[in-house]
Amino acid sequence: MANWTTTAKRQLGEIMSVQTWLPDTMPEYAQGFMYMLGSLTASSFVVLILSGIVLAANGPAAWSYNPAVKFVAAVHFWSVQAFFFFMMLHLWRVFFTGAWRGGRGMTWVLGAVAFIVAIPTAFTGFLINGDLYSQWNAVQAKDGLNALGLGWVNLPNAGQMFGMHVVVLPLTLTLIIGAHITRVRLKSVVPPYPENVSTPVKEDTP
Ligand code: HEM
Repeated sequence: MANWTTTAKRQLGEIMSVQTWLPDTMPEYAQGFMYMLGSLTASSFVVLILSGIVLAANGPAAWSYNPAVKFVAAVHFWSVQAFFFFMMLHLWRVFFTGAWRGGRGMTWVLGAVAFIVAIPTAFTGFLINGDLYSQWNAVQAKDGLNALGLGWVNLPNAGQMFGMHVVVLPLTLTLIIGAHITRVRLKSVVPPYPENVSTPVKEDTP
């Protein structure tokens, strides 16, 4: 009888298998550009994390007086644009190919949760910019959160937002994306919908 130890042992065995992470064949239908969009999203996320580490190491205001840090801030900003752009295209691809089929429901849910967590991650980044735009956003959105009963999230508190943007949210997002990609590796990419085999009867033309 299966208990949690045997289940965990089997699942960990699959997750840690070299065959899971380094397969030597790829389904033919997965070789097009449409199937690269998830990897492009993941690659943008790696650039985001690396540029974010450099920014965090230099302190919250360094981008405004150090040209090298300003460049890294621009890389950070543009990789956010790429991340959301590729994520939206990836979402359309997985939607139109019905990629939740064949036991891939959890892959879908993890992707959707990653999308939801990505939004406050980006938003808190705008808040710690410190310019007038970010202060305006913080104060306006604070009213919204108060109305929702989420008063403990104090958006005008730059320290809390720094912790959220630099530690809490990116770590959470990394874990969710990691679990999403692990599910994809375990379940592989969904096969296309079957072709419609019923051909319409041709009318006899007089
Ligand atoms: C946070 C950003 C995301 C990353 C980094 C990511 C990454 C990936 C990667 C690398 C794949 C492998 C296949 C491919 O590249 O097309 C994949 C597949 C998949 N993704 Fe995402 N994804 C993200 C967001 C989402 C979202 C928002 C959804 C849907 C709500 C989603 C649902 C799926 C599903 C269902 C599959 C399985 C694909 C299949 O079997 O064809 N993903 N994802």
